[in-house]
Amino acid sequence: MASYKNIVVLTGAGVSAESGVATFRDNGGLWEQHRIEDVATPEAFRRDPDMVQNFYNTRRAQLKNVEPNAAHTALGTLETKLDGQVTIVTQNVDNLHERGGSTNIIHMHGELGKVRCVCCRRVFLWPDDCDQASQCPNCFNQSALRPHIVWFGEMPFEMDRIESLLCACDLFISIGTSGSVYPAAGFVSLVRAAGTAHTIEVNLEPSDGASYFAETRHGEAGTLMPLLVEELLA
Ligand code: APR
Repeated sequence: MASYKNIVVLTGAGVSAESGVATFRDNGGLWEQHRIEDVATPEAFRRDPDMVQNFYNTRRAQLKNVEPNAAHTALGTLETKLDGQVTIVTQNVDNLHERGGSTNIIHMHGELGKVRCVCCRRVFLWPDDCDQASQCPNCFNQSALRPHIVWFGEMPFEMDRIESLLCACDLFISIGTSGSVYPAAGFVSLVRAAGTAHTIEVNLEPSDGASYFAETRHGEAGTLMPLLVEELLA
């Protein structure tokens, strides 16, 4: 276990569940009382921008009241102490990996703490509420800022870089993701097709893609990840 030098970690909502951030598919199909398609699609934003902005404002505000858990901090420790490279590719839009001590993070589905302008395409750090009256700090257009979130039907960020990392890694760990949303759900197959990397799933229960992993560990990420990191650093 201690011989891995190039580790890619894919994370999903389950890694933040113990911090109190709601997952997407564990509540009868509702995410914070909303159907995903009512708040997380470009069509929803066109139909009712105020409602979608409000939804993300609430999620953004919630970030101030949650803390990284033992899984986030274990990954921070892994990056600091491993004699090699650790990259986190996260589907999560929260900032708990950063706050848990990780620095090498790709937010493939965007970040709650940022907005972007649909006119000039610039991305801005935005810690507070955003609405249709907010003005772009660069081109000064109004009604042009949207959450910097990848919605259903949109292309995830940095896919070329992610694919290169997956093909070059010697260990791929997937944590807290249901394995039901592509392209992330296909990463394990890509890793296995590319070479001989070991693959581990860490999830509360077997995910939809569990059978593609060479090794599976089922239980809470906050319990399992500190143990796994200890093994990797031994
Ligand atoms: N520890 C480990 N796994 C957990 C924990 C926990 N404490 N709690 C829940 N899980 C697992 C659940 O069993 C489930 O398999 O985390 C997974 C969360 O799955 P989803 O809610 O589907 O979240 P995710 O896979 O990240 O969703 C992918 O879908 O809605 C879109 O863009 C959104 O990024 C999101 C993407």
